[in-house]
Amino acid sequence: MNDPGALETASERRAVAHPAGPCTLVIFGATGDLTHRLLTPALYNLSRWGLLPEDFAVIGVGRTEQEEGALKADLTAALKRFTASRPGQDAGSAVDGPAWERVVAGMEYLAGDLEDATTFQRLGERIAASRGGRGARGGVLYYLAVAPALFGPVIRRLGEAGLARQDGEAWRRVIIEKPFGHDLASAKALNAEIRTVLDEDQIYRIDHFLGKETVQNIMAFRFGNGFFEPIWNRDHVDHVQITVAETVGVEKRGRFYETTGALRDMVPNHLFQLFTLTAMEPPASFEADAVRSRKQDVLTATQTLSPEDAATRVVRGQYGAGTVKGDARRAYRQEPDVSPQSEAETYVAMKLMIDNWRWAGVPFYLRTGKSLTVRDTEIAIQFKHAPLALFRGTGVERCPGNWLIIQIQPDEGISLQFGAKRPGPEVTLERVQMSFSYADHFQLQPSTGYETLIYDAMIGDQTLYQRADNIEAGWRVVQPILDAWKAGGVPLASYPAGSAGPAEADDLLARDGRRWRAL
Ligand code: BG6
Repeated sequence: MNDPGALETASERRAVAHPAGPCTLVIFGATGDLTHRLLTPALYNLSRWGLLPEDFAVIGVGRTEQEEGALKADLTAALKRFTASRPGQDAGSAVDGPAWERVVAGMEYLAGDLEDATTFQRLGERIAASRGGRGARGGVLYYLAVAPALFGPVIRRLGEAGLARQDGEAWRRVIIEKPFGHDLASAKALNAEIRTVLDEDQIYRIDHFLGKETVQNIMAFRFGNGFFEPIWNRDHVDHVQITVAETVGVEKRGRFYETTGALRDMVPNHLFQLFTLTAMEPPASFEADAVRSRKQDVLTATQTLSPEDAATRVVRGQYGAGTVKGDARRAYRQEPDVSPQSEAETYVAMKLMIDNWRWAGVPFYLRTGKSLTVRDTEIAIQFKHAPLALFRGTGVERCPGNWLIIQIQPDEGISLQFGAKRPGPEVTLERVQMSFSYADHFQLQPSTGYETLIYDAMIGDQTLYQRADNIEAGWRVVQPILDAWKAGGVPLASYPAGSAGPAEADDLLARDGRRWRAL
């Protein structure tokens, strides 16, 4: 095996994709939903792709008392459900036994209360005794798949137990799930708290959108091709629309949504990833700090909304009863664990402006919502209209818009819309489209998006993770909206489940003489 440690930088290590070096993965929240649905298939896929360390062990930590083999059996069942959910598969038939065996061979389970210091002492003993990942002599990656209220306490206890101390190849890193804070003040407080234990290069704040291939491709597309970047600015771009539309409602997450809402759940994290990757300047390299600093510049240059702007440039909505893809849906206020008078938003749309030379005057419209008519995540860039003079006296009254659409999910791809002359004696233009589809060109491997992220944390590449200032800058943009809503007077619009969102969101663009792209 090549020694990944011999390579110069994290991105070089990533470029050649060798198995990661010796590592013990400690999952806090091993009996939880995230571990079952996402981490298990991601580890399995990494194993199939030959990227897991040769020296590898998993220690699952959970509150439930259960027998040593129970976690393995439970996660094996979860993996079978995952593979069975792929088209054309029977339950369990597609699991590659040896690949999964490599994941679970050294799997252990530790039951314990995360508020109790002795749990961490016992964890330290387990790590030291574990042979799989070379124990305490190898790297240890802690994955916090637990409730956000536990992020700070768990990291503090890791510090107190000496489990965050690193020494050469015995690195210690922590992956922290979202949401990271629930507003600017709490995000700052959490950053300050964890920095008393960990250095910034030990902290991996995850945003799973960055694990999506199509999201990573935004930079490759922009900076690896000669023809779009020169027109990627206010001279040529009319406006940008970023949409994350979901058909799912809040399902069993009513309690979470009641205190979180769509703004906190989706905007400072997922939508801002798409926003910053679209608007950022080219970084000097793909090194983590080069990329994260350019993303940071975008958020720093984003106009701070005044209380009045926060009320007029942002629309919040909540779904009522309706029909999504032929299925009757109850209203949000009738969902389990939701108050019948709830004011929580399940939809948000906003207009952001960036005060810099590239983007001054170009609106970025962002929208996201649950129980909408389709699932669609896309970045749509409208270029300025061509002047009409040439077509005077022809049948052309308006040139079709030129759109570049980066389709993130589903049906990942990129398309370009432009006008073409309709064949015949008359001069009329019709909108046509050139499309590239990932699925047509590449052999797509089923994946969760967490594979790349876990692998990157194992090799020490933070490019796809959020730095402390990135998180805080995102909250800084969102905070005036939270404040305006809290102060009252910003109405909650409603939309039927299965629609494209509230009419007020259409008005937001109509006031600028624009329209959302149809969902
Ligand atoms: C999660 C949000 O972070 O992202 C969910 O909490 C949302 O509310 C989900 O549904 C969307 O992710 P994906 O990968 O399914 O588009």
